[in-house]
Amino acid sequence: MAGIVVVGTQWGDEGKGKYIDILSEDTDYVVRYSGGNNAGHTIVHEGVKYALHIIPSGILRKNVTCIVANGVVIDPRVLIEEIESLKAKDVEMATLYVSDRAHVIMPWHTVLDGLQEEKRQKSGLILGTTRRGIGPAYSDKADRCGIRMGDLMDPEVFKEKVYTNIEIKNALIEKVYGGQGLDAEKIIEEYLACAEKLRPYVRDVNSIIHKALEDGKVVLFEGAQATFLDIDFGTYPYVTSSNPISGGVCTGAGVGPRMITEVLGVMKAYTSRVGAGPFVTELKNEVGDKIRELGHEYGTTTGRPRRCGWLDAVMLKYAARINGLTGLCMNHLDTIGKLDTIKLCVGYKLDGQVIDYYPSNLRELERCEPIYEEFEGWKDTDISKFRRFDSLPLAAKRYVRRIEELVGVPMKYIGVGPAREQVITL
Ligand code: GDP
Ligand code: IMO
Ligand code: MG
Repeated sequence: MAGIVVVGTQWGDEGKGKYIDILSEDTDYVVRYSGGNNAGHTIVHEGVKYALHIIPSGILRKNVTCIVANGVVIDPRVLIEEIESLKAKDVEMATLYVSDRAHVIMPWHTVLDGLQEEKRQKSGLILGTTRRGIGPAYSDKADRCGIRMGDLMDPEVFKEKVYTNIEIKNALIEKVYGGQGLDAEKIIEEYLACAEKLRPYVRDVNSIIHKALEDGKVVLFEGAQATFLDIDFGTYPYVTSSNPISGGVCTGAGVGPRMITEVLGVMKAYTSRVGAGPFVTELKNEVGDKIRELGHEYGTTTGRPRRCGWLDAVMLKYAARINGLTGLCMNHLDTIGKLDTIKLCVGYKLDGQVIDYYPSNLRELERCEPIYEEFEGWKDTDISKFRRFDSLPLAAKRYVRRIEELVGVPMKYIGVGPAREQVITL
């Protein structure tokens, strides 16, 4: 039995999709356990770029069964679009199953996400969400008025739930936010058409996952978002509305903690963040701009420029603890090496005192000053073709070893480019 979790250690976009695709070669099942189409996971294979939002990143491997589990919120329109766009690219897709317990993102969720953001913008407190309806859908799940995939499969139940929801949602949209109300009949027509397209995929996936684990299969749990976007352990309220951390696998896929045998933390050789919120090592200068250009740091989902900064070992240590990391998977070592000098944050100073924790209080976090160690870059050596750790320039090896030492977790893989092959296994 092997239950391997792949989780983001920073603010997302660390390259989780790439590692899921790589690890899928020797995997039987890939299970998405949280988030929705706020995620954008990139795979580059044979020169073709695939951006996946809901479908697990094992989909390009025929040996794999891909599962979208109960912890995910699903916009059926987006899921269908994604399935169709893969078919249009002539991808021989892996088998795909979708949980009947997963909650459905309804049109009022996306509308409300946008209206809430506009209202927050006016008060200067915008979160910078992806406006995909994620927060409102998870709110309804917790409020027990959500609609699940299983309900969508039953037209009578679905209609009834739309009618009970629409009155209050339209009142909110129109009276609180001054927006345009929605038409229940149109929604029913559109969503029931989606239901028929998705029906072949929807089932009780929990029994499939358990059977796989009992049969000794390898199951990869694909994290979306990341530790610092976690609703409990991230930089609240500048977070997403789910639990992307490894613990989210237990509730998001219905798997006991004993089933998890490995937890791989994906990180970049620097830090990026898209959306608002504190970022201690952010570089609001030409070095940050250079990292953004070198690393092509523009959002996979919204196209927004990502904020960039130095790697922060205080964050990684926290992520190692919260997720119980057993290994690190680093990306963009090629990108960071193109700078003359690289800085690595090894600690924080808060009001003149060195602290060894990541503050939960945002006002404290905003006052934290990074303590840096400096490393030389290796811009004369293009490492994108390197496949062995030993052959890397000494400066690159030093950087990697220092990260391992600070975080206390062994480095398992190093990415030296976006393609499937551009990885060093340690
Ligand atoms: P995810 O959301 O964690 O799956 O990450 P994204 O796909 O949103 O963002 C990661 C970006 O970095 C994508 O554009 C990848 O193609 C790219 N990428 C991943 N690993 C590497 C790497 O080692 N080097 C370089 N240069 N690009 C990488
Ligand atoms: P992947 O899986 C980076 C960010 C948004 C915003 C905050 C809340 O590709 O790493 P939401 O729409 O979830 O309510 O937005 O979370 N965010 C991500 N940032 N990568 C992601 O996913 C993200 N998913 C959400 O930008 O700051
Ligand atoms: Mg992404």
